[in-house]
Amino acid sequence: MLQTIELTKRYEDGLLALDALSLEIRPGEIFFLLGANGAGKTTTINLLLNFIEPTSGKALINGIDVMEQPLETKKHVAFVSENVMLYGNFTARQNLDFFARLGGKTHLAKSDYYNVMRRVGLQEEAFERKLKTFSKGMRQKVGLAIAIIKDASNIVMDEPTTGLDPKSAAELMQILLRLRDAGKAILMCTHDLFRAKTVADRVGIMKEGRLVMLRTREEFLQDDLERIYLNYMQEAVL
Ligand SMILES: Nc1ncnc2c1ncn2[C@@H]1O[C@H](COP(=O)(O)OP(=O)(O)OP(=O)(O)O)[C@@H](O)[C@H]1O
Ligand SMILES: [Mg+2]
Repeated sequence: MLQTIELTKRYEDGLLALDALSLEIRPGEIFFLLGANGAGKTTTINLLLNFIEPTSGKALINGIDVMEQPLETKKHVAFVSENVMLYGNFTARQNLDFFARLGGKTHLAKSDYYNVMRRVGLQEEAFERKLKTFSKGMRQKVGLAIAIIKDASNIVMDEPTTGLDPKSAAELMQILLRLRDAGKAILMCTHDLFRAKTVADRVGIMKEGRLVMLRTREEFLQDDLERIYLNYMQEAVL
């Protein structure tokens, strides 16, 4: 479970990027966080991953405070972003092996790595190629494969479909649904309303650091999500 309690971030320059966000993403749930550029989505993720410190409030992973127990909480969350940190001089398989061992998984064989790379749709000829020769979308697939191997109970994604070709983006959604059915709590920050409509169990819209809308799948399907989104973007923040 991913949880924020009155989570607030004011950056050093005084900008209030996140204003008392309280949110809970439960096991077996895909939550899409939408919002304009600069709304505070990445800030929320950075706080959950303890990359930055909150001004006030708390972020919890499986009930544990990320500030109090940073190493413990990191074990329970996998992160997939547009700019995944990977080793250019390692092959795709070596990157997977490196991060798997880092996460304490020392029993995996070459075939396990190949299977997960197939699952994320990376082409076979790239499995043993150095990462520095990869395109952006190929790197993202390796990042996703690492997240799957980590098998954490929570998955956090920052715009994971950016850079993926349409087929790969569709495959990512299938993977998300399977992970959700396996009981993972999934937070995805995105601008992709179409994918939100297709797979989200709940959707939140952020505006200027505040959560202005929260709807379950049942609720947002009764209306047009795009229309809802545009309406919220036009209204002034109260
Ligand atoms: N390190 C920083 N220092 C100062 N201000 C920052 C910093 N990082 C982000 N901000 C500001 O905080 C606000 C929220 O940024 P954030 O990156 O969380 O938005 P976002 O919702 O992820 O946007 P996007 O959709 O463009 O990715 C923005 O106004 C941004 O300029
Ligand atoms: Mg962002």
